[in-house]
Amino acid sequence: MSPNLAEGLGEDLVEAVRAGFLRFAQGYLHGADDDFAYTLKIDHTLKVLDVATAICQGEGLTADMALAPRLAALLHDVGRFPQYREYRTFRDRDSVNHAKLSVRHLLREKLLEGVPAHMRRLVLGAVYLHNARLLPATLPPELLQAAKIVRDSDKLDIMRIMIEHFSLPHAAHPEVSLDAKHHPTNYTPEVLACVMAREVSDYRRIVWVNDFKLLIVGWLYDLNTATACRLLNDTGRMEAVLDLLPQDENILALREQIAADLAKRLKGDYLA
Ligand SMILES: [Fe+2]
Repeated sequence: MSPNLAEGLGEDLVEAVRAGFLRFAQGYLHGADDDFAYTLKIDHTLKVLDVATAICQGEGLTADMALAPRLAALLHDVGRFPQYREYRTFRDRDSVNHAKLSVRHLLREKLLEGVPAHMRRLVLGAVYLHNARLLPATLPPELLQAAKIVRDSDKLDIMRIMIEHFSLPHAAHPEVSLDAKHHPTNYTPEVLACVMAREVSDYRRIVWVNDFKLLIVGWLYDLNTATACRLLNDTGRMEAVLDLLPQDENILALREQIAADLAKRLKGDYLA
């Protein structure tokens, strides 16, 4: 972690919230089959915090300004634990909106105790908005910044998880990819068209595992910060997801578009 973000009272708050989150999340582990789901989300959460910290640093935020995005990164998926315990799925459309559930449970568990009221509102807002398909057009600037950083951090780490998951010959846990159907070459043309049009796709359109990969590729168009684009490039995650798709001529055209658009974003250009 950067020294300037590790200094001061802010870091004590992050540590306290982190400890509270771990106590809450580890309470779901009980040595049974579903421990994998909770472990996956604990691991994801801690990595999203790391990515959020790196983005805050890359974007030049002060330790104070970084606090809301970092606390929201720690708490964004609190709802995944009760969601999986009750419904045995991570599919919101078959259960509940897990961001709403995160807000309800983090309040119930008092996971923001000791956090000043203004900061608490920012964290709750960013948690609530982390999985919205699009952010509302008007948001207070501090909330907008926190929400954007959490969304970027979450996406970058979901890419890591999906690359690991889709690289397994027989995924033991189809829940990880929201139970999308396996097929080596099938994908839904509308999902591809959406990415080619640089539009944000929708989880509800996913039928095949390749649709999920296409949706993830399309996240290039939903990254908010230059630092997230740089991390995406440095980690090679975009290439890795593209490699997992069938290499037909449509996908090759997509690869060309994505490579050109990522290069533009890295130069600081806005995309069309
Ligand atoms: Fe989430």
